[in-house]
Parts: sequence; C-alpha cells; structure tokens
Amino acid sequence: MATTPAQIPCDIKSIELADLGKRRIDWANQSMKVLQIIRKEFIKNAPLKGVRISACLHVTAETANLAIALRDGGADVALCASNPLSTQDDVSACLVRDYGIPVFAIKGEDNETYYQHIMAALDHKPQITMDDGADLVTTILTKRQDVADGVIGGTEETTTGVIRLRAMAKEGVLRYPIIAVNDAMTKHLFDNRYGTGQSTIDGVVRCTNVLLAGSKFVVAGYGWCGRGLAMRARGLGADVIITEVDPTGALEAVMDDFRVMAMAEAARLGDVFVTVTGD
Ligand SMILES: NC(=O)c1ccc[n+]([C@@H]2O[C@H](COP(=O)([O-])OP(=O)(O)OC[C@H]3O[C@@H](n4cnc5c(N)ncnc54)[C@H](O)[C@@H]3O)[C@@H](O)[C@H]2O)c1
Repeated sequence: MATTPAQIPCDIKSIELADLGKRRIDWANQSMKVLQIIRKEFIKNAPLKGVRISACLHVTAETANLAIALRDGGADVALCASNPLSTQDDVSACLVRDYGIPVFAIKGEDNETYYQHIMAALDHKPQITMDDGADLVTTILTKRQDVADGVIGGTEETTTGVIRLRAMAKEGVLRYPIIAVNDAMTKHLFDNRYGTGQSTIDGVVRCTNVLLAGSKFVVAGYGWCGRGLAMRARGLGADVIITEVDPTGALEAVMDDFRVMAMAEAARLGDVFVTVTGD
C-alpha cells in the first residue's frame, strides 16, 4: 500500500490515487512540447536553483507539468489550488509521491480549507509567487505581511487577477512586481480564446447534457474568452447572442454576425448563459 512520503508536507485527498495521476500527467506532457524543451534546459542549467516558489494555480495535469519543470530547474515549489473545483486529486497525489512537491489541494474543498491551503503554501516562505486570480497575493498583503518582505516578484495568470492587481498597484498597496502572464500574446490569443472556448462548453454539456444545436446561447462579454466561446457555440449549431458593455466590442460582435443586445432583453430569450466579463 502506498503511503505519503513522511517528509513532504501536504494535504491531499489520497496518496493511493497517484498511479492514475501519473498517467494523466504523462498524457498531458505529450502535448506540451515547448515546456518539454524548457524542461530539458532547466535540467541542464538549473536556473532556479534553491529559489522557493509558492504557486496557487489550477491543480491539473497541465499545471503539474509546469511544477515539475520548475522543480527540474532547481526550484523548491509548493502548490495550492486557485479554484476548489478544478483540482484533480490523482494529480496532487502523484506530485507528492513521485516528484516530492508539497501540494495543498482537495477537490471540492470549502472556503475555509481553501484559504488554509493558501496559508500552508505561504508557510513555504516564497521568493516568487505564481497566482491565478490573485488570491495568493491578496492573502499575503492582507494576512501574511511577514511573507511579503521575502518576495522578489511574481506572476499572475488571468484577466481577473490582473484587474485586481492593477487596482492594488493604483492604490499603492502592491508590495512587489508581478508579471501579467495574460498580457502575453500566447496566453490571451490561444488559452483564453480556444482553451476557454472549448472547456466552457465541455463543462456546460457535461453538467446539463443540453443539446446546443438550436439552443439560444447567451455570452456576456465579447472579449478573448467570449469570442472563442461564441465561435465554438455557433460551431455546434447554437443561436448565439452577445451582450457587451464596450461599444467597440459590441460592434465587433455585430460584424462577426452575432445578435447583440442588452442582458435585460437576452434574459428573456436565452437557454444557456455564460458570463465571461472578468468583472
Ligand atoms: N478558467 C480559465 O481557464 C480562464 C482562462 C482565461 C480567462 N479566464 C477568465 O475569463 C474571464 C474573461 O477573460 P477575458 O480574457 O475574455 O477578458 P476580456 O477583458 O478580454 O473580456 C471581457 C469582456 O467583457 C466585457 N464586459 C465587462 N463587463 C461586462 C458586462 N457587465 N456585461 C457585458 N460585457 C461586459 C468587457 O468590455 C470585455 O470586452 C476573466 O474572468 C478571466 O480571468 C478564465
């Protein structure tokens, strides 16, 4: 029977799930060619030798490969979840058992546990933070000022997190520089548009089993995710309606041949509603 390696601090569902997690991580790795190249370089040069990183990200097979690459670069990584619902418990188990990475994440954890896990990742005393939605940084600035002095920089993955951090920077409360990963063309052009465009529909279909063909599919917000989602919903035969507060974005949706209207009107017509406004 597998046991949690005693020296690795963690809070995960069950170490017994690690074999399945390993298969999932290896499968994802096959599609992550750029990361594979970086990982090879990291193994050779160890550019992050001894650097402590606390990461608050979706704990999934893809992120696992990122954490493993950082570890191969010499970093000392601790991981917690940026969303209690996306955690893959088998992946957490594999990261702990096979890669010695401390993970604090359990799928479906309540709000209190979610923040306990963020605290545990911060006990790692990070020099670099990696965030997806800005909960880690917000916790540092509000409850863990003791950690802030040791942090030299961080990254923030998503639009909503960047909005929150820019507000903090404007107020003068952000204590260290953070790279907005979302500003990278390779992030918003592809992950937001095609990744979220596909995975949101996957989530809606799995959850409701609704037939999208012929349905009225309302997308609130015609930004990067909204464009991708609208494109994919249309591809499945849905009648897509857009709501958008920015006039240029609204005009773009019209030019892309979607019906655009206020939510008060769309609410009367829609079968499925997705908000991708970032606010
Ligand atoms: N889970 C994931 O994998 C993932 C990936 C990427 C982005 N996201 C999230 O998706 C959301 C959208 O990201 P994005 O990159 O498309 O943002 P974006 O800024 O490109 O687009 C948001 C759009 O919504 C519009 N908008 C704002 N308030 C509105 C309102 N009340 N009604 C109608 N429209 C409104 C804005 O004008 C803008 O055009 C963010 O919360 C982001 O963090 C999640």
